[in-house]
Amino acid sequence: MDPLDPDPQVIAEAARCLVAGGLVAFATETVYGLGALASDADAVARIYRAKGRPAHNPLIAHVADVAAARALAARWSEGAEALARAFWPGPLTLVVERAPGAVVHGSAGLTSVALRVPASPVALALLRAVGAPVVAPSANPSGRLSPTRAEHVVQGLGERVDMVLDGGPCAVGIESTVVDLSGDTPRLLRHGTLDVAALRAMLPALETSIYDPLPGGARSSPGLDPSHYAPRAVLEVLPRAAIAAQIPSFPGPHGRLMRESIADAPGHERVLGSHPEVWAARLYDELHNLDALGVERVWVETPPGDPAWWGIADRLRRASAPRP
Ligand code: TXA
Ligand code: MG
Repeated sequence: MDPLDPDPQVIAEAARCLVAGGLVAFATETVYGLGALASDADAVARIYRAKGRPAHNPLIAHVADVAAARALAARWSEGAEALARAFWPGPLTLVVERAPGAVVHGSAGLTSVALRVPASPVALALLRAVGAPVVAPSANPSGRLSPTRAEHVVQGLGERVDMVLDGGPCAVGIESTVVDLSGDTPRLLRHGTLDVAALRAMLPALETSIYDPLPGGARSSPGLDPSHYAPRAVLEVLPRAAIAAQIPSFPGPHGRLMRESIADAPGHERVLGSHPEVWAARLYDELHNLDALGVERVWVETPPGDPAWWGIADRLRRASAPRP
């Protein structure tokens, strides 16, 4: 469908499917989500089965606007209001204490709930048509690469999904930034593409140091397992010179994602340049492509250390972590 002007009849059909207990995968600006009606316990249980997702990992409830988010929260702080006004609709998820009466399944036993108003017209049209919260994790088998195209959803989940709303490639390309406002101190739980300094300007008390995506840094979030976002191929993050040194002796088919080319070396090379937004937008798609080419090894050039790259550094660290 037209990603900027989705067909209302198709949207209405998808909304009916959700209301009837179906699973609908849909484009958002970050990655494709696998949606179910938040109030439907059976449909939400199907999401966990379809993905093979551990029960301890809670889901994000997607809503159409700030008022609908506020209705699910026990308290809506000034910080929540400021972040919501600044970044919604957009790639930000806020964790707040859940309102006592709110029926949102997929909370993994927590008293909090994660909320997001996505920006993509396809997602917003669907949420408006449903008129109720839709829980949606990324539409991939648990632990694997997130989908940034409808084809990735079909390849990964196939018949386990009732309908896929194809809104073309995702513009942002990695998952939303997650901020936890449920405790006394606001904490960053997952890096995305939002600028940490801009978040801190809105919310000076934001605790980010407990979560450092660079090698050796600490991490803290329920459900954020060390190995995650992984392609089929073994992925290694190395400086450019180390990649150049490994290529000649590697026996199998291999690929590499570089800021600058290692010209004339064999293997499937993708040059993504020096802008973190471009890396975010293309990262999963390139890794899906390299998997489809059957490479055994992917080398990725170590990202720069500055905060604009932390979302990418985080995904690469998890994609290269030892697998269970
Ligand atoms: O961009 C995104 O956030 C995408 C699109 C589809 O919206 N969704 C996504 O969902 O990435 P998922 O399930 O793959 O990741 C959700 C993250 C998980 O790390 C989960 O542990 C965390 O959000 N989360 C959800 N509810 C939470 C809660 N109540 N407290 C703390 N973390 C929570
Ligand atoms: Mg996910």
